Amino acid sequence: MSILSGKKIILGITGGIAAYKCVEFARALTQAGAKVRVVMTDAAKAFVTPMTLQAVSHYPVHDDLFDPEAEAAMGHIQLARWADAVVVAPASADFIARLIHGRSNDLLSTLCLATNAPLVVAPAMNQQMWTNAATRANLTQLAQRGVTVCGPASGIQACGDVGPGRMLEPPELLTHLENIFTPKLLAGTRVLVTAGPTREPFDPVRYLSNYSSGKMGYAMAAAAAAAGAEVVLVSGPVALEAPVGTRQVKVETALEMLAAVMQEVKSCQLFISTAAVADYRFEEVADSKHKKAQDNLQLNLMPNPDILAQVASLPNPPMTIGFAAETDNVLAAARTKLKTKKIDMIVANQVGIPDQGFDSDTNIVTLISQEGEQAFPPMLKTQLARELINYFSERLR
Ligand code: CTP
Repeated sequence: MSILSGKKIILGITGGIAAYKCVEFARALTQAGAKVRVVMTDAAKAFVTPMTLQAVSHYPVHDDLFDPEAEAAMGHIQLARWADAVVVAPASADFIARLIHGRSNDLLSTLCLATNAPLVVAPAMNQQMWTNAATRANLTQLAQRGVTVCGPASGIQACGDVGPGRMLEPPELLTHLENIFTPKLLAGTRVLVTAGPTREPFDPVRYLSNYSSGKMGYAMAAAAAAAGAEVVLVSGPVALEAPVGTRQVKVETALEMLAAVMQEVKSCQLFISTAAVADYRFEEVADSKHKKAQDNLQLNLMPNPDILAQVASLPNPPMTIGFAAETDNVLAAARTKLKTKKIDMIVANQVGIPDQGFDSDTNIVTLISQEGEQAFPPMLKTQLARELINYFSERLR
């Protein structure tokens, strides 16, 4: 179940082309189980229609401060009190300026002034407007007042410019909102996560690797960040964006991953090793491409260091969590790894079957520690990550 289930969210839409993204965002909110009331400024209605937002939020849109009928149903103060969070997306430069001055010259600005609920803004504007000193100063003040500012992203803009000012995509915005409601069980904690595969080259164009997608590790990093931890994510090559609130260090080989981990691990309280580190690397890496020949090709492999075991053997190790990917005798093999690597806990999961392990969105795992074993039912990796992070944070305390 989403953490947003049952949460009462006011979605404020201001005037900007990014308003079209709000249709999808409102839909994502309702699908997550949130109760959504949409408030639109007049300018917003130039970009999307209230009818569309009514259809996806399942409620009539609020747009008029002085509408007696709307006030009789749920007045603006009632609406401000009703909300668990107010999200303004897109937040135009003008609306941000009005927020800064505490204006209440339309329904949305009045609501923002009258609510006690957390305020989230997702700015969207032309890159020149975004970098303008006035906007910069306004944004600094907003953050100082405790408003959560999400984004913007950089890229090609509707006006043809390239630069910062694109509204975050709905899934990213949803994550920011989920994070607001997630208990901060790891506040003040530094967490290091490894994720994805490593690549071991044998010439400039070829390498040895595995099928790891990085999804479990990225979900762990995201869940730790949502729980308030400072998260460093050391990642092998994957096709995923760094989760909101994490610092990503990109590596290719096991040796690079080891170096990055040793650099970062000193001040960490929790080390989560989800990376599928290649156990071997090539003894020699050619400077130029191997040419095809009729004979068999012989390449010698040598063992890579065990990063997790090295962290666990540090003088003052953090709490160490391993992930065992197995095709056979899953639990027995994981128990052995727990002992030989001398780690605190290991998450055992079977790989090589559909809907589990590498590249799937779901996983079925058993958490093994010295104290016992806990089997988790099948669930999304994102949800599993949240449950595991809750468990680890309890143990840390
Ligand atoms: N691991 C590591 N460094 C390695 C190999 C593994 O840090 N060189 C970590 C993984 O990130 C994982 C745990 O050790 O948390 C178990 O990894 P796994 O691949 O299941 O086991 P291996 O130790 O590689 O043993 P085997 O390949 O024989 O199953």
